[in-house]
Amino acid sequence: MQESKISILGAFVQMRPKFGENSENIERAVKLASKVRADLYVFPELCNSGYAFTSKEEARQFSESLETGPSVQVLQSFSEKRKCALVAGLTEKSGESIFNSAVIIDNGRILGTYRKTHLFYREKLWFEPGDSGFKVFDLERYGCKIGPIICFDWFFPEASREVAVKGADVICHPSNLVLPGKAQIGMMVRAFENRVFVITANRVGIENRSKEDNFHFTGKSQIISPTMEKLASAKANESIAKVARLNLDLSRNKKVTSMNDVFEDRRLEFYKAQYHELLNRELTNS
Ligand code: ACM
Repeated sequence: MQESKISILGAFVQMRPKFGENSENIERAVKLASKVRADLYVFPELCNSGYAFTSKEEARQFSESLETGPSVQVLQSFSEKRKCALVAGLTEKSGESIFNSAVIIDNGRILGTYRKTHLFYREKLWFEPGDSGFKVFDLERYGCKIGPIICFDWFFPEASREVAVKGADVICHPSNLVLPGKAQIGMMVRAFENRVFVITANRVGIENRSKEDNFHFTGKSQIISPTMEKLASAKANESIAKVARLNLDLSRNKKVTSMNDVFEDRRLEFYKAQYHELLNRELTNS
């Protein structure tokens, strides 16, 4: 393989947020990130507030505007000082609605947000289902496109495929994973089948805030290459940031063999069952 003309340094930040301590959590997140030099940092899901809410009211209490909230301001200032891009999972307040979201920032400027599409388990009691759809953000000065998905979105291969087809070089995957080891394997496959890089930034620790909940977050954040190599990884229980160089010629090359291209070889005419399902739902609802 030739040396890449375009490459960026990508990093995950694996941390242990304290429930409800938004400002302390974000300060600790950027302090950890500051220990490595990268062009693009990915922070965990809900890294401002922690995860295990007991009600929608409590989620509202610890949510913030993703335009002007204090956590976003700290992240913008980090991004501006470091001249870097970042994707961070945050509890978002938008009017009366609370979302499990990610903010995308480059050089201090907010490029946009993504709202988690597939809510996991009791998140359905706390958040609105994401309404943003899947988006790709162009980090123009790096010549790199990134596609955010959040945690349980990994379970739906359509999510990763959608951002890959839209041109993402890197899937940025803020997470609070609780099924040991499963997503790490799944996201290796997502990287390989879409020929993209994946940065999964998971959290560690335990949140046991009600009798229904005993969330044990599984760490093992990782950076995976389009050829399924593990470029960096963390242990199950450490707070750490790690970095890897991402050579983007790998994510631009969709060839598996000289005769196979993962996108061009798709047979869309045989993948219609889901679209019929969607049309039927729309007809039923109209
Ligand atoms: C998850 O989606 N936080 C498991």
